[in-house]
Amino acid sequence: MKTLKLDAINDYAYAVNRASEILRSGGIVAVPTETVYGLAASAYSDDAINAVFAAKGRPQDNPLIVHISSIDMLRDVARDIPDSAKKCASAFWPGPFTMVLPKGDNIASNVSAGLNTVAVRYPSDKTICDIITKSGLPLAAPSANTSGRPSPTTAAHVIEDLDGKIDAVVMGGDCQVGVESTVVSLVGDKPRLLRPGAITPDQLRKILPDLVIDDAVLQQLKEGEAAASPGMKYKHYAPKTNAVLVEGCSNSFVKFVNSKNDCAAICFEEEYYNISIPKISYGSKRDEKTLAQNVFSVLRDIDTLGVKEVYIHAPSKDGVGLAVYNRLIRACAFEVIKL
Ligand code: TXA
Ligand code: MG
Repeated sequence: MKTLKLDAINDYAYAVNRASEILRSGGIVAVPTETVYGLAASAYSDDAINAVFAAKGRPQDNPLIVHISSIDMLRDVARDIPDSAKKCASAFWPGPFTMVLPKGDNIASNVSAGLNTVAVRYPSDKTICDIITKSGLPLAAPSANTSGRPSPTTAAHVIEDLDGKIDAVVMGGDCQVGVESTVVSLVGDKPRLLRPGAITPDQLRKILPDLVIDDAVLQQLKEGEAAASPGMKYKHYAPKTNAVLVEGCSNSFVKFVNSKNDCAAICFEEEYYNISIPKISYGSKRDEKTLAQNVFSVLRDIDTLGVKEVYIHAPSKDGVGLAVYNRLIRACAFEVIKL
């Protein structure tokens, strides 16, 4: 299949209209959001959703997030909406925040991989919201990468993974947040953080004081353990090069990597000039937001370094740092060195 490239920077109206038409006729289209690019399909169409799973090579039991462009649309997607969800919606929407709620009847069952719940997000990015509104469809959209690869934060990343496998790409700018949305389940006894993102635990606790952080956020699931969020059980974001997460202060990290041969370092910009092996900086250790913006792009670049192993300096787990840490520990298959 030929993938249509729609230039949303120079011809925004055409890109939005064409993408909406393709989605209305059952096609699948990659679109930018403020977090990462998503691979969108009508949440009402079983066939379009199947095409998304096929293009990504995504395991059938990993459900998708449904995107809406107004709070009113929530009623088309979910039912029995609790007060806590209404409070979260007014605090965090539009934005990088997803809630798991009881699923509405009109949503295709494969969106939720057969679960009776649905994950819903109202993004702040104008492009995806205009496409949702124009098409009149809630859009199911997982990240627009091949399953297991780092999530795409540029149109070029999407093309790298999915060219020839999807109907179109809406080519906008780079994603501002850089890591996928915070996912909170509101269907259990207590609200549960399933995936950390730019909306931090401190922000969530102001609205959801009894928030529980799921074990899978920072730990590997044990053999046979059921995942609250199926996406957390898969190997994710991994470069082909073996990657190891390293915790410790800047001085010890620099000393440690400088003693290694045939290896590379993913470091903070403050350490860059002190490192004598191949290296890439992923932002400032004093500003976790920069780390979030760059982390996936750097994970894609690791394989170009031509080394046998790469050591990644772990961020702090504060603020959005928790989200960056959560992605990196998966990219490193939970291999961590504490200096
Ligand atoms: O920022 C984002 O959330 C991006 C953009 C495109 O919006 N989307 C995204 O989708 O990251 P995806 O499919 O890559 O991740 C969805 C995550 C998975 O970990 C999945 O298991 C979880 O949300 N999820 C989806 N529906 C769920 C449900 N009903 N119950 C529990 N977890 C669910
Ligand atoms: Mg994903």
